[in-house]
Amino acid sequence: MPHALIIGASRGIGLGLTSELMARGWHVVATHRTAAPELAATGATTAVVDIDDTDSVAALAAAHAGTMFDHVLINAGIIGNRTDTASTASRDLVAQLFWTNAIAPIRAARLLLPLIKDGGSIGFMTSVLGSVGGRSHGYAELYSASKAALNSLTRGFAVQDIGSRNIAVLNLHPGWVKTDMGGDGADIDVTTSVKGLADVIESAKPPGQRYVDYKGDTIAW
Ligand SMILES: NC(=O)c1ccc[n+]([C@@H]2O[C@H](COP(=O)([O-])OP(=O)(O)OC[C@H]3O[C@@H](n4cnc5c(N)ncnc54)[C@H](OP(=O)(O)O)[C@@H]3O)[C@@H](O)[C@H]2O)c1
Repeated sequence: MPHALIIGASRGIGLGLTSELMARGWHVVATHRTAAPELAATGATTAVVDIDDTDSVAALAAAHAGTMFDHVLINAGIIGNRTDTASTASRDLVAQLFWTNAIAPIRAARLLLPLIKDGGSIGFMTSVLGSVGGRSHGYAELYSASKAALNSLTRGFAVQDIGSRNIAVLNLHPGWVKTDMGGDGADIDVTTSVKGLADVIESAKPPGQRYVDYKGDTIAW
Protein backbone atom coordinates (compact mmCIF):
# COMPACT_ATOMS: atom_id res chain seq x y z
CA MET A 1 0.00 0.00 0.00
CA PRO A 2 1.58 3.33 -1.04
CA HIS A 3 1.79 6.05 1.62
CA ALA A 4 1.07 9.76 1.10
CA LEU A 5 1.36 12.79 3.34
CA ILE A 6 -0.72 15.83 2.45
CA ILE A 7 -0.12 19.15 4.22
CA GLY A 8 -3.28 21.28 4.16
CA ALA A 9 -6.19 18.89 3.67
CA SER A 10 -9.08 20.36 5.68
CA ARG A 11 -11.04 21.40 2.58
CA GLY A 12 -10.83 22.06 -1.14
CA ILE A 13 -8.20 20.30 -3.23
CA GLY A 14 -6.30 18.81 -0.28
CA LEU A 15 -9.45 17.21 1.10
CA GLY A 16 -10.47 15.96 -2.34
CA LEU A 17 -7.06 14.48 -3.07
CA THR A 18 -7.04 12.73 0.30
CA SER A 19 -10.33 11.03 -0.61
CA GLU A 20 -9.16 10.21 -4.14
CA LEU A 21 -5.87 8.62 -3.06
CA MET A 22 -7.63 6.61 -0.34
CA ALA A 23 -10.15 5.35 -2.92
CA ARG A 24 -7.14 4.22 -4.99
CA GLY A 25 -5.78 2.18 -2.07
CA TRP A 26 -3.26 4.64 -0.65
CA HIS A 27 -2.71 5.13 3.08
CA VAL A 28 -2.90 8.90 3.66
CA VAL A 29 -1.70 11.07 6.52
CA ALA A 30 -3.50 14.39 6.07
CA THR A 31 -3.09 17.57 8.08
CA HIS A 32 -5.45 20.30 9.23
CA ARG A 33 -5.20 23.40 11.44
CA THR A 34 -8.60 23.46 13.13
CA ALA A 35 -11.45 20.97 13.46
CA ALA A 36 -11.94 19.26 10.09
CA PRO A 37 -14.91 16.87 10.28
CA GLU A 38 -14.97 16.19 6.53
CA LEU A 39 -11.32 15.17 6.63
CA ALA A 40 -11.91 12.92 9.64
CA ALA A 41 -14.77 11.27 7.72
CA THR A 42 -12.39 10.16 4.94
CA GLY A 43 -10.72 7.72 7.34
CA ALA A 44 -7.29 9.25 6.73
CA THR A 45 -4.80 9.44 9.56
CA THR A 46 -4.95 13.08 10.62
CA ALA A 47 -2.53 15.46 12.33
CA VAL A 48 -2.58 19.13 13.25
CA VAL A 49 -0.07 21.28 11.36
CA ASP A 50 0.09 24.99 10.67
CA ILE A 51 2.62 25.27 7.88
CA ASP A 52 3.46 28.80 9.03
CA ASP A 53 4.73 27.30 12.28
CA THR A 54 7.95 25.43 11.50
CA ASP A 55 7.86 23.74 14.91
CA SER A 56 4.52 22.09 14.09
CA VAL A 57 5.98 20.67 10.87
CA ALA A 58 9.04 19.45 12.76
CA ALA A 59 6.75 17.75 15.31
CA LEU A 60 4.90 16.00 12.47
CA ALA A 61 8.18 14.81 10.98
CA ALA A 62 9.28 13.51 14.39
CA ALA A 63 5.95 11.75 14.95
CA HIS A 64 6.32 9.91 11.64
CA ALA A 65 10.05 9.17 11.84
CA GLY A 66 10.48 5.71 10.44
CA THR A 67 7.56 5.99 8.02
CA MET A 68 8.72 6.27 4.42
CA PHE A 69 6.22 8.03 2.17
CA ASP A 70 5.82 7.45 -1.55
CA HIS A 71 4.51 10.98 -1.96
CA VAL A 72 4.52 14.15 0.15
CA LEU A 73 2.35 17.03 -1.06
CA ILE A 74 2.67 20.57 0.25
CA ASN A 75 -0.80 21.80 -0.68
CA ALA A 76 -1.51 24.56 1.89
CA GLY A 77 -1.82 28.00 0.36
CA ILE A 78 -3.66 31.30 0.66
CA ILE A 79 -4.92 33.80 -1.90
CA GLY A 80 -4.61 36.95 0.20
CA ASN A 81 -6.52 39.87 -1.23
CA ARG A 82 -6.75 39.53 -5.03
CA THR A 83 -7.18 43.25 -5.58
CA ASP A 84 -4.19 44.32 -3.51
CA THR A 85 -1.12 45.13 -5.54
CA ALA A 86 2.56 45.61 -4.83
CA SER A 87 1.76 49.31 -4.66
CA THR A 88 -1.20 49.10 -2.26
CA ALA A 89 -0.81 46.03 -0.04
CA SER A 90 0.27 46.37 3.56
CA ARG A 91 3.65 45.03 4.57
CA ASP A 92 1.90 42.51 6.83
CA LEU A 93 -0.28 41.13 4.02
CA VAL A 94 2.71 40.74 1.71
CA ALA A 95 4.72 39.06 4.45
CA GLN A 96 1.88 36.63 5.24
CA LEU A 97 1.32 35.76 1.57
CA PHE A 98 4.95 35.07 0.80
CA TRP A 99 5.52 33.27 4.10
CA THR A 100 2.62 30.83 3.65
CA ASN A 101 2.91 30.31 -0.11
CA ALA A 102 6.67 30.29 -0.66
CA ILE A 103 8.86 30.19 2.46
CA ALA A 104 6.86 27.83 4.66
CA PRO A 105 6.47 25.18 1.90
CA ILE A 106 10.23 25.00 1.38
CA ARG A 107 10.90 24.81 5.10
CA ALA A 108 8.35 22.01 5.36
CA ALA A 109 9.83 20.21 2.36
CA ARG A 110 13.30 20.29 3.94
CA LEU A 111 11.96 18.83 7.18
CA LEU A 112 9.91 16.13 5.43
CA LEU A 113 12.40 15.10 2.73
CA PRO A 114 14.03 12.43 4.96
CA LEU A 115 10.60 10.72 5.14
CA ILE A 116 10.32 10.23 1.37
CA LYS A 117 11.43 6.90 0.02
CA ASP A 118 13.75 6.49 -2.94
CA GLY A 119 11.63 6.21 -6.05
CA GLY A 120 9.00 8.51 -4.51
CA SER A 121 8.03 12.11 -5.16
CA ILE A 122 7.38 15.46 -3.52
CA GLY A 123 4.71 17.80 -4.81
CA PHE A 124 4.30 21.55 -4.37
CA MET A 125 0.84 22.95 -5.10
CA THR A 126 1.78 26.01 -7.07
CA SER A 127 -0.30 27.58 -9.86
CA VAL A 128 -0.09 28.46 -13.51
CA LEU A 129 -0.19 32.02 -12.15
CA GLY A 130 3.32 31.39 -10.84
CA SER A 131 4.66 30.99 -14.36
CA VAL A 132 6.94 33.92 -15.19
CA GLY A 133 7.47 32.88 -18.82
CA GLY A 134 3.77 32.40 -19.42
CA ARG A 135 2.57 35.58 -17.74
CA SER A 136 0.75 37.95 -20.11
CA HIS A 137 -1.59 39.76 -17.70
CA GLY A 138 -1.54 41.47 -14.32
CA TYR A 139 -4.19 39.41 -12.48
CA ALA A 140 -3.61 38.75 -8.77
CA GLU A 141 -0.08 40.06 -8.97
CA LEU A 142 0.94 39.38 -5.40
CA TYR A 143 -0.48 35.84 -5.20
CA SER A 144 1.10 35.11 -8.59
CA ALA A 145 4.45 36.47 -7.44
CA SER A 146 4.27 34.34 -4.29
CA LYS A 147 3.78 31.21 -6.42
CA ALA A 148 6.60 32.33 -8.75
CA ALA A 149 8.78 32.65 -5.64
CA LEU A 150 7.73 29.14 -4.62
CA ASN A 151 8.64 27.85 -8.08
CA SER A 152 12.04 29.52 -7.87
CA LEU A 153 12.73 28.08 -4.42
CA THR A 154 11.74 24.60 -5.58
CA ARG A 155 14.25 24.81 -8.45
CA GLY A 156 17.05 25.22 -5.95
CA PHE A 157 15.50 22.59 -3.67
CA ALA A 158 15.44 20.09 -6.54
CA VAL A 159 19.18 20.56 -7.08
CA GLN A 160 20.61 21.21 -3.62
CA ASP A 161 18.30 19.27 -1.31
CA ILE A 162 17.24 16.36 -3.50
CA GLY A 163 20.81 16.07 -4.78
CA SER A 164 21.50 12.57 -5.98
CA ARG A 165 18.43 11.05 -4.30
CA ASN A 166 16.00 9.30 -6.62
CA ILE A 167 12.99 11.50 -5.87
CA ALA A 168 10.81 13.36 -8.37
CA VAL A 169 9.79 16.98 -7.76
CA LEU A 170 6.36 18.00 -9.05
CA ASN A 171 5.26 21.62 -9.28
CA LEU A 172 1.52 21.14 -9.68
CA HIS A 173 -1.18 23.40 -11.11
CA PRO A 174 -4.58 21.94 -10.15
CA GLY A 175 -6.55 23.82 -12.80
CA TRP A 176 -8.92 26.64 -11.92
CA VAL A 177 -10.97 24.73 -9.37
CA LYS A 178 -14.31 25.40 -7.66
CA THR A 179 -13.14 25.74 -4.04
CA ASP A 180 -13.30 28.49 -1.44
CA MET A 181 -10.23 29.91 -3.17
CA GLY A 182 -11.19 29.27 -6.79
CA GLY A 183 -14.82 30.39 -6.42
CA ASP A 184 -18.03 29.11 -8.00
CA GLY A 185 -17.13 30.45 -11.45
CA ALA A 186 -14.02 28.30 -11.78
CA ASP A 187 -13.50 25.95 -14.73
CA ILE A 188 -13.55 22.53 -13.07
CA ASP A 189 -14.82 20.80 -9.95
CA VAL A 190 -12.63 19.31 -7.23
CA THR A 191 -13.28 15.74 -8.44
CA THR A 192 -11.95 16.47 -11.94
CA SER A 193 -8.88 18.22 -10.55
CA VAL A 194 -7.93 15.57 -7.99
CA LYS A 195 -8.43 12.63 -10.37
CA GLY A 196 -5.98 14.29 -12.74
CA LEU A 197 -3.55 15.19 -9.94
CA ALA A 198 -3.66 11.63 -8.60
CA ASP A 199 -2.83 10.32 -12.09
CA VAL A 200 0.12 12.73 -12.31
CA ILE A 201 1.37 11.71 -8.85
CA GLU A 202 1.00 8.00 -9.54
CA SER A 203 2.89 8.29 -12.84
CA ALA A 204 5.75 10.47 -11.50
CA LYS A 205 9.07 9.08 -12.63
CA PRO A 206 12.10 10.15 -10.56
CA PRO A 207 14.55 11.73 -10.79
CA GLY A 208 13.89 15.23 -12.17
CA GLN A 209 11.49 18.13 -11.78
CA ARG A 210 8.33 18.92 -13.73
CA TYR A 211 5.94 21.89 -13.68
CA VAL A 212 2.65 20.41 -14.84
CA ASP A 213 -1.09 20.86 -14.61
CA TYR A 214 -3.67 18.32 -13.46
CA LYS A 215 -3.74 16.83 -16.98
CA GLY A 216 0.02 16.30 -16.96
CA ASP A 217 0.62 19.08 -19.49
CA THR A 218 3.89 20.97 -19.03
CA ILE A 219 3.77 24.65 -18.02
CA ALA A 220 6.48 27.18 -18.93
CA TRP A 221 8.56 28.23 -15.92
N1 LIG B 1 -8.60 26.60 -6.48
C1 LIG B 1 -7.87 26.94 -7.52
O1 LIG B 1 -8.40 27.29 -8.59
C2 LIG B 1 -6.36 26.91 -7.43
C3 LIG B 1 -5.63 27.20 -8.59
C4 LIG B 1 -4.24 27.15 -8.55
C5 LIG B 1 -3.59 26.78 -7.39
N2 LIG B 1 -4.31 26.52 -6.26
C6 LIG B 1 -3.57 26.13 -5.05
O2 LIG B 1 -4.05 24.90 -4.58
C7 LIG B 1 -3.89 24.82 -3.15
C8 LIG B 1 -5.23 24.47 -2.51
O3 LIG B 1 -6.16 25.46 -2.91
P1 LIG B 1 -7.75 25.31 -2.66
O4 LIG B 1 -8.40 25.87 -3.85
O5 LIG B 1 -8.09 23.96 -2.18
O6 LIG B 1 -7.90 26.40 -1.48
P2 LIG B 1 -8.84 26.44 -0.20
O7 LIG B 1 -10.15 25.79 -0.48
O8 LIG B 1 -8.80 27.86 0.24
O9 LIG B 1 -8.04 25.51 0.85
C9 LIG B 1 -6.78 25.91 1.28
C10 LIG B 1 -6.22 24.83 2.17
O10 LIG B 1 -4.92 25.26 2.62
C11 LIG B 1 -4.92 25.19 4.05
N3 LIG B 1 -4.04 26.20 4.65
C12 LIG B 1 -3.99 27.53 4.40
N4 LIG B 1 -3.05 28.09 5.17
C13 LIG B 1 -2.52 27.10 5.92
C14 LIG B 1 -1.52 27.06 6.93
N5 LIG B 1 -0.88 28.15 7.35
N6 LIG B 1 -1.20 25.85 7.46
C15 LIG B 1 -1.85 24.73 7.06
N7 LIG B 1 -2.83 24.72 6.14
C16 LIG B 1 -3.15 25.90 5.58
C17 LIG B 1 -6.36 25.47 4.44
O11 LIG B 1 -6.58 25.09 5.78
P3 LIG B 1 -7.64 25.85 6.74
O12 LIG B 1 -8.99 25.20 6.46
O13 LIG B 1 -7.12 25.63 8.10
O14 LIG B 1 -7.66 27.29 6.35
C18 LIG B 1 -7.07 24.60 3.41
O15 LIG B 1 -7.03 23.24 3.77
C19 LIG B 1 -3.35 26.18 -2.72
O16 LIG B 1 -1.94 26.11 -2.58
C20 LIG B 1 -3.71 27.09 -3.89
O17 LIG B 1 -2.85 28.21 -3.99
C21 LIG B 1 -5.68 26.56 -6.26
